[in-house]
Amino acid sequence: MNKIAVIGSGTMGNGIAHTFAQFGYDVNLVDISQEALNKGLTTIAKNIDRQIAKGSLTEDDKTAILNRIHPFSDLKEGVAEADLTVEAATENLELKLKIFRQLDAYSKADAILASNTSSISITQIAAVTSRGKNVIGMHFMNPVPVMKLVEVIRGYATSDETTAAVMDLSLKLGKSPVEVNDYAGFIANRILMPMINEAIFSLYECVAGVEEIDTVMKLGMAHPMGPLQLADFIGLDVCLAIMKVLHEGFGNPKYAPCPLLVNMVMAGKKGIKSGEGFYDYSNGTKEARPAAKFLS
Ligand SMILES: NC(=O)c1ccc[n+]([C@@H]2O[C@H](COP(=O)([O-])OP(=O)(O)OC[C@H]3O[C@@H](n4cnc5c(N)ncnc54)[C@H](O)[C@@H]3O)[C@@H](O)[C@H]2O)c1
Repeated sequence: MNKIAVIGSGTMGNGIAHTFAQFGYDVNLVDISQEALNKGLTTIAKNIDRQIAKGSLTEDDKTAILNRIHPFSDLKEGVAEADLTVEAATENLELKLKIFRQLDAYSKADAILASNTSSISITQIAAVTSRGKNVIGMHFMNPVPVMKLVEVIRGYATSDETTAAVMDLSLKLGKSPVEVNDYAGFIANRILMPMINEAIFSLYECVAGVEEIDTVMKLGMAHPMGPLQLADFIGLDVCLAIMKVLHEGFGNPKYAPCPLLVNMVMAGKKGIKSGEGFYDYSNGTKEARPAAKFLS
């Protein structure tokens, strides 16, 4: 595989494009928004500067990496020559199905089509294409150039050859791929999100306050960040959407989202991106909101 296309130039797409280009692959970065493409390229340049400051890359590497990334606003042109396309567009089922129909129509017959989705079924995505055996999940973690894990998700129809090719490619990117099967939440979110949801239940049931819950998990379990702070980082709307996928996918009440999480999302308190979640970020600092706040 030489030529890679990445669909979506947002948080994940620009990180994925950066990583492939850093490891010598030629990358077409596709986004419907010219503004997102410009922002993505600026972010990549800034992130490379950080790697240069740390001594892991040089100015010459920067030039070479940036020269390997080609922006496209037309999906058809962007994917025509690609051996592998990694889709990292907005997390929305209808949008992903539409994009995969297009990828199937415009890609080379033997191209592999991967999705970076956090929670949408790879099997469902593959079913709208004529090449289910070539469709797979390639779930990178944020920030992509730094995080080692790639969760490689086999859909119902994914072939052994496609899985082997994507596992091998992930190793070539310096990552540690892990193969999992396609059930709701895969492994990462099936385990992480119920933990976050349980932390929210603990707050909702007044077992402890925000700081206390996060401190127990940081100091007691050596987590780098407490679950409520992590929820604020991920976005409470994203956490809620993934809990709904788990609840619907398994039909098990243990995955029911905490009513406090539902209320906060309805109130527009989505975490860092809205300036307030379990912590208040409004004055440029991070302050735990008092537990009583969550009862009103
Ligand atoms: N943010 C994370 O921490 C994270 C981690 C793992 C996986 N993911 C998954 O990665 C995917 C992308 O997430 P993100 O956080 O980068 O989102 P984002 O909102 O930062 O970026 C999405 C980009 O997709 C573009 N887009 C929308 N429709 C498009 C189309 N038809 N063609 C081309 N581009 C299109 C948007 O313009 C935007 O730039 C989602 O599936 C998400 O679940 C996110």
